[in-house]
Amino acid sequence: MNTNEPAPRPSLSRRELLGGTVALPLVAPMIRTGKRTPGPTLVGSSNGLDGMRKAYPALLEGSHPLDVAIEVVKVQEADPTDHSVGLGGLPNEDGVVSLDSACMDAETHNSGAVAAIENILHPCEVARLVMERTDHCLIVGKGAYEFARMHGHPHTELLTEEARRIWLRWKETMSDRDDRLVPATRPEEEKHGAIVPSRFERHGTIHCSALSKGGKLACTTTTSGLAFKIPGRVGDSPIVGAGLYCDQEAGSAGSTGRGEAAILSNGSFACVEMMRSGMHPKDAGIEVLRRIVRQARRAAGWQPSLLREDGWPAFSIQFYLLDPTGRYAGVTLGGPAKFAVADPEGGPRVEDLERLEP
Ligand code: GLY
Repeated sequence: MNTNEPAPRPSLSRRELLGGTVALPLVAPMIRTGKRTPGPTLVGSSNGLDGMRKAYPALLEGSHPLDVAIEVVKVQEADPTDHSVGLGGLPNEDGVVSLDSACMDAETHNSGAVAAIENILHPCEVARLVMERTDHCLIVGKGAYEFARMHGHPHTELLTEEARRIWLRWKETMSDRDDRLVPATRPEEEKHGAIVPSRFERHGTIHCSALSKGGKLACTTTTSGLAFKIPGRVGDSPIVGAGLYCDQEAGSAGSTGRGEAAILSNGSFACVEMMRSGMHPKDAGIEVLRRIVRQARRAAGWQPSLLREDGWPAFSIQFYLLDPTGRYAGVTLGGPAKFAVADPEGGPRVEDLERLEP
């Protein structure tokens, strides 16, 4: 699979499109959105921008979409300044960095994932090995680590000094009923903005969906998960249908933000199914967010902190959607303002997320 795709579909000329020599079902959705050619496209969370800049040229040249999506997210997995992914990710409540990752190939409709894996720098590559070298979809914990080592991934310490200090600060400030004392002087990292995130700011992740030159879809999601989580907690990122999903006939989607909301809504699957019904990715994503708001309101009966005082969800969640014709969107409930995209019209860039407001 690490090769260029066989016989990629030739891109359509302006003359072919405008002259009506192309079958109508392919052309109609492009005209509706004003997009002339469904060229190679990447869509994902804004922290994927650096990776897109690096990997997008390979997609333009015809590389397999899963090769490219994985190259995009590997940049953040190796970046110690991104506290939501891989090296430098914030640890669980015991101070251990525990990673979740999955990938999916739409053409073969196969997936692979690892969850609660420790000391492996690139869980996205291990997820792909699960897909390609086993008959399974998900391997967790020690088994995932041993599997990665068997395939040559080195043992790597992922807890950086900065992440350790943020975690320690969290431990020291979370309760006034234990014996840990907050230091009198402000730690250096707080002066530089690396402060302990609040409860609903502790979700971060990277997702990338890719559409190749030949029209094939693939996606991957990778994360260090909820910061300071209960050891063993697994979020949406390695769960097919929740943190990511793609189907060659319908589209690709993935999520960042509160994983429990993506799991409870089966959110990425829902996005893809709505695109299958003909909805534009933006409308599909917003409809899934509306569903999540209703679900959160029902759950607030036993967990009131899920909602703000005005009855709107206190957490944030995003979906990134891409359909087989190259139409895309990023949608959000709270949280960040931007998502990353790369296509032939504008290259790699960030755009505004479509926001669902109260
Ligand atoms: N979305 C990442 C997580 O909740 O683990």
